[in-house]
Formats: sequence, structure tokens, C-alpha cells
Amino acid sequence: MNIITCVAPVNIAVIKYWGKRDEKLLLPLNDSISATLSVQQMHAKTTVMASPGFKEDKLWLNGKEETVHNQRLQNCLQEIRRRAKQNEDDKVNGVSNWYAHICSENNFPTAAGLASSAAGYACLVYALAQLYNVTGDISGIARQGSGSACRSLYGGFVRWHQGSACDGSDSIATQLAPHSHWPEMRILVLVVSDKRKKVSSSSGMQNSVKTSELLKYRVSHCVPKRTEAIIKAIISKDFDTFADITMKDSNQFHAVCLDTFPPNVYMNDTSHAIVNLIHAYNSASGKTKVAYTFDAGPNACLYLLEHEVPKLVSVICQIFPPENEGVQYLQGIPVEKQAVSQEFIASIGMEPQQRGLLKYLIHTEVGPGPQILSEPHHHLLTEAGLPK
Ligand code: DP6
Repeated sequence: MNIITCVAPVNIAVIKYWGKRDEKLLLPLNDSISATLSVQQMHAKTTVMASPGFKEDKLWLNGKEETVHNQRLQNCLQEIRRRAKQNEDDKVNGVSNWYAHICSENNFPTAAGLASSAAGYACLVYALAQLYNVTGDISGIARQGSGSACRSLYGGFVRWHQGSACDGSDSIATQLAPHSHWPEMRILVLVVSDKRKKVSSSSGMQNSVKTSELLKYRVSHCVPKRTEAIIKAIISKDFDTFADITMKDSNQFHAVCLDTFPPNVYMNDTSHAIVNLIHAYNSASGKTKVAYTFDAGPNACLYLLEHEVPKLVSVICQIFPPENEGVQYLQGIPVEKQAVSQEFIASIGMEPQQRGLLKYLIHTEVGPGPQILSEPHHHLLTEAGLPK
């Protein structure tokens, strides 16, 4: 019996991946760059177990059994086993021939629309690689589960290279800098209340590739320059430039979504109110202190430096008051309360919004990549290979 349990992080892109050049291999039209968030606050956790006694592959996601006959999952399983076989002495009875039971859960609500597939596939592939003794780069395998998952295999600041090979072999992620490089960097995730059913990233980007002229312009003219510039900003810890590019790239990505026909509307009125607040906050501060970025949903991810967190959180709590005072509005790394002058609030020039537009805030930081949890109590499967 072989059993492995791992956790893998969420990543938030600052140069967005949007559009594929190959739907089957999940090859992107452009490079993208992200920061990997700490697994302390948000992670996917997966236990994989292989046994000669198992009759078939099985999968449980967040407590529910799901089919394994899903093309993306199969892509990952088949590729891992193919690579495992290459390294194995016993190609007939070796572990690569054993079926696997997979049990996975997120410690954050998937309903919150946070990047759960990236952490999920990164965790699955990382755990399977341990189980089947696969070494070398595995980001290209996670990519075949969900494109953005390849970036969650590394900690710190990560680049996913679009690559040019037809078989996708050079479309992999590499680390630009470890999380220790810019230890002051913080992330605030603002979970926005929303009831709309969202268009998935996969079908949304497929339609953008078909219909958006702006996407072509973005890919050929904007992303290459921005990628080089933001890498320099990350390496030299130039927050101003980092923030500027992050916001512009998020705005352009959503402009592409609106240029898609019919349009993909991911941001809502609360998202736009957050954008207004951040610009007003930066101009009242006389400097770019905070950057926003939005994925394919209404939630905001804010990048800022540690020393700015107490002030920003205090402003957010005044402008976006919680539904009721009792709720745990701020989750994650604790924040010291800071009184903000009425003068500063006045210079922001924004009235407090109605209560409850935000569900809660998660305060987190940049962190390392996936990790193995070696103590048996972490396993999500029993010795018989069933969910605990
Ligand atoms: C807006 O990786 O979820 O978050 O490859 O089809 O699974 P698939 O899409 P996915 O797309 C993520 C898009 C994004 C931007 C980003 O993370 O770069």
C-alpha cells in the first residue's frame, strides 16, 4: 500500500492567461505571471493511494464521489503513469500499473469563486508524482488539468512560458523568485457577494479567442512588453511598477471579456466600487500603495506591502461594512487595528456603501509551493482506501 497526502497553494495572476492555442493540450496564447499564496490560509489538500487490490481509479471531491471519466483528470493520470513506467524496473507489476483512489478537499469555499481548480490540479499532480515516483518538471502535467494549475507547483513568483513546441513540452512554469525574495508582499482577497452564475474560464476564453479582436492585440502587443517589465519590477522589488502593470493587465483582461461576443461580464458593481476605492486610496496617499486584480469572477485580490495593511483594512471596513458586526470579517493573518484620520477618509471621497457587499476578507502572503504532509492523521483516506 502506498499513500501520500499533500497540500498545494492557490496562485493569483498579475499577467493573466486568457486564450488557448491548443484546447486539448491546454496551451496558452501568451505567457502569464503569478504569485503563489501561502498554504496557511488557502489550499487544496489531496490524499492519493495506490494498491494492487484496487479494481479501478476512484475520486472524491469535497466529500462527494465524482466520476474519473473526465478528460482533464485522465490527461493527468495517463501522463503521470506514462512517466512512471519509464523509470520503473518492473514494468509489468510496478506501482504504475496499480489503480489509485484520490480524495481531495479545499479549505476555502469553492462557492466563493476562488481559484480552486489551480490548487486542486496542482495538488493532485504533485501527490501522484510522489506516489508513482515521477521526477523532473511536472508543471506541464498539471497544465493539462487546468492551465493555471502549472503555476501552483512553484512557490513565490512564477512564470508560465507559453512555449512554441506543438506537443506542449516547453509550455511549463518556472520560478522567477522564491517567496523569501519579497517577504513584505501581502495579499487581501475580498470575497464579493454575488448570485450570478458565472461562465467558466474555459468556455469564456474559448469564445474570446473566437470573437475578440482586442485579445489578438493584447497577445501580440501588450503582454510581451508587460511580462518583461513586471519581471524586472519583481526582481528589483519595485512596487510602483508591479502595481501599475498588475492593475492595467487586469483591466485589459476584463476589457477583452467585454469585447467577447456575447460579452463575458465577470466583475459586478461591487468589483467596480473596489476599483474606485483603490484608485482613490492611492491618490489620497500620493503614491501607489495598493494594486487590484480580478480573475473570472467578481472577487478582488489586492497586492500591497505589509506596512500598509492595517490602514487599508481599516478603510475597507469603513467603506464596505460587514452585513453584521458579529461575523469574522477579517480572516487569515491577524491585523492590528489602526485608526485612520477623518481627513484621510474625506480625501478618499467615497461614502460608506450598503452593508454586506463583501462577505469577508482573507489576509495572506506569498508562500512556497506544494508540501507533503507526512503524519498519518493528515490522510483523507482510511487504510481501506475510503474517505475518512
Ligand atoms: C482568469 O486555468 O481556470 O484565472 O486552463 O481552461 O482550466 P483552464 O482555465 P483556468 O483559467 C484561469 C484564468 C484566469 C487568469 C489566470 O489565472 O491567469
